Amino acid sequence: MGAMEESKDLSYGAASMEREHAGQLSLFNDLKAAIRSGADDSLVYALLQELLEHTNLHFLSEQLAMKLHAYEAYESHLLEHERLLAEVQNLKRGLATGTATDKHSLIEALRSWLVVHIQTTDKALAEYLSTRAAQPPEVAP
Ligand SMILES: [Fe+2]
Repeated sequence: MGAMEESKDLSYGAASMEREHAGQLSLFNDLKAAIRSGADDSLVYALLQELLEHTNLHFLSEQLAMKLHAYEAYESHLLEHERLLAEVQNLKRGLATGTATDKHSLIEALRSWLVVHIQTTDKALAEYLSTRAAQPPEVAP
């Protein structure tokens, strides 16, 4: 493999995003299954923590790629990420304090929100990154 192919391989693009999205969605499915089967709140809490860590890393990768490639819609994309993270944190807090109600609907709503984010906001980003794959990153003056 030549240097160009290698650097393309290492760049953050559609393939990496798809892999990470699949991980997020599978964690959402685990959460739904756990809640539906009446799992203990401590298991749901642990799954939420895993989702939060995975999602945090994934969002940071996207945000870094957006910054490196001077993506115009960075701010609005970031706001969407922050919103999901805040909702997951809220649910975690609710579980920890025993005030969480209707966990299944909330998880379902967050999962649906994520699917829309992937199909619209992330799709636009992946398309942009694919046009930038062979370009060097923008370096701020
Ligand atoms: Fe995103």
